[in-house]
Amino acid sequence: MNAMNLFRLDGARALVTGASRGIGKAVAEALADAGCDVVVTARTPSALDDTVRAVEERGRKAVVLAGDLAEPGVAADLVDGASAALGGLDVVVHNAGTLPTAEDGSPLMAPLQHARQQDWDTVVTVNLNATAALCRAAHPHLADSDRASLVLMSSVAGLVGTPMMEAYAATKAAQVSLARSLAVGWARQGIRVNALCPGWTRTDMTAFASGTGPLSDWLTSHVPLGRWATVDEVVGGALFLASPAASFVTGHALVVDGGLAVPDGGLAGYPKPPSPFAAA
Ligand SMILES: NC(=O)c1ccc[n+]([C@@H]2O[C@H](COP(=O)([O-])OP(=O)(O)OC[C@H]3O[C@@H](n4cnc5c(N)ncnc54)[C@H](OP(=O)(O)O)[C@@H]3O)[C@@H](O)[C@H]2O)c1
Repeated sequence: MNAMNLFRLDGARALVTGASRGIGKAVAEALADAGCDVVVTARTPSALDDTVRAVEERGRKAVVLAGDLAEPGVAADLVDGASAALGGLDVVVHNAGTLPTAEDGSPLMAPLQHARQQDWDTVVTVNLNATAALCRAAHPHLADSDRASLVLMSSVAGLVGTPMMEAYAATKAAQVSLARSLAVGWARQGIRVNALCPGWTRTDMTAFASGTGPLSDWLTSHVPLGRWATVDEVVGGALFLASPAASFVTGHALVVDGGLAVPDGGLAGYPKPPSPFAAA
């Protein structure tokens, strides 16, 4: 056996949500590298042009489906449309997610006591309710596959205390819980379900933090590896969980965070600048 073949997914039919940029785009490319045809989704079709090009450059088929996961019924439509387009589904990486955002698209960072209920509701709708709807819709398609893998893109924010991002963190923790419950419930139907928990990763979503000195310095001071991740450092985990390399892995939350979630009890003693949130 060539162990590298364990990461092959030749001919597999994959759906990657939130594939227009960042982690989702990189996951779609990685799955195409491994041999998957890929349905890619975002809110607007044109946002997926680069991803489609990247998948096709790898010799695989790319299909675009668009929809806003904040809207009722969209998650199920995307799943059913993906299965119809590819003749079934073997791999689903549900990656689309959001932070609370202001009308101009900038992230809203506020402690719960100052955050608006409507922003909590929006994050729960997109990150959690749409995840449940997507999983529900994916079940019959994955049950028909002999190599079914569902990966939920959670976050280290769901594993550690994440002030100023309580809604986001709560939904990401819920995704880990959902992955564990579904893994047990669907195991005898041959469907593996896992969560991937990246740490702070440089993408458009985190540009507000990675681009500014004090906040970036403070965040990375809590990361034992002492820096931000690149998307390329996250996709390996998604490919592993999707592939036969993880054929006996289910109900797992794979943490790719530079050590952030490792409890060190403060013993490591890395110097930490004062929190920019101290006055909040
Ligand atoms: N970056 C990090 O540090 C980090 C860390 C841990 C976990 N994560 C998680 O990883 C995932 C990807 O994050 P990222 O940093 O790559 O984010 P990103 O660059 O902001 O990309 C988010 C993706 O989700 C899609 N999306 C957002 N809201 C949507 C909605 N309402 N309906 C449909 N699609 C929607 C976006 O598509 P549009 O083109 O429609 O905007 C985009 O493709 C998220 O679930 C995030 O929570 C990120």
